Amino acid sequence: MKTGFVQFAPVFGEVRKNLAAIERLVSSTRADLLVLPELCTTGYCFASKAEARGLAEPSGGLSLRFLKRLSREQEVSLVAGFAEREGSRVYNSAALITPEGQVGIYRKSHLFWNEKKWFSPGDTGFRVFRMGSVNIGMMICFDWIFPEAARTLALRGAQIICHPSNLVLPHCPASMPVRALENRVFTVTANRTGRERRGGQDLRFIGRSLICGPDRRVLASAGGKEECIKVVEVDPARALDKGMTPRNDLFRDRRPGFYNVPS
Ligand code: ACM
Repeated sequence: MKTGFVQFAPVFGEVRKNLAAIERLVSSTRADLLVLPELCTTGYCFASKAEARGLAEPSGGLSLRFLKRLSREQEVSLVAGFAEREGSRVYNSAALITPEGQVGIYRKSHLFWNEKKWFSPGDTGFRVFRMGSVNIGMMICFDWIFPEAARTLALRGAQIICHPSNLVLPHCPASMPVRALENRVFTVTANRTGRERRGGQDLRFIGRSLICGPDRRVLASAGGKEECIKVVEVDPARALDKGMTPRNDLFRDRRPGFYNVPS
């Protein structure tokens, strides 16, 4: 299964321009599954909740309709981060879109820094979606630092964890191989590049998108500044085997009774 990430620098507030960039990039390659960054249609540094709300769209809005068409025409499943409006709430969400028109939504559980001013915490929990014969999970950026996120997805059967990101701290790229290893899954972190200076913030996004295998190997990675797409062939069936040694299965060996800490 040809699986990859798209790394680029969305322009704040320029939804149509960002969708055009996504179309240009996605159309330039052949893949079965491509992961795009967090908030890739709007950019990241909102000046206020009202601004986030103004740029957010319902899951049936222009951006997801555009991505559905692109997915169908290019015959590629897409995972893309977007600002989602539902009723009075705005979520930092990701959509899994398949060429057959299936749409699955995940809403970010662990909001980072000023995101707490702009978004409501996600209410979906960590869902796993069936895509053909493969189970796909999604988490968004800062969710990575809570190992429970990837663990929950893996225990629910995810074979590939798609991870749209807007990373600004340096820690994630070195940590994702461990998330992949400890859960014996594939991970695809699609981070953005560039800088946003607005709303009293000045953020540089670190790029360095990467794909990791269940054996901790980095299968593809990007530099800190480049716009690129990287695609590798993965065998999702490898993520069904949780064995480490002939006597160790990472899921069967768990001791959940000892993990019950007060919440
Ligand atoms: C982040 O969660 N966007 C760092």
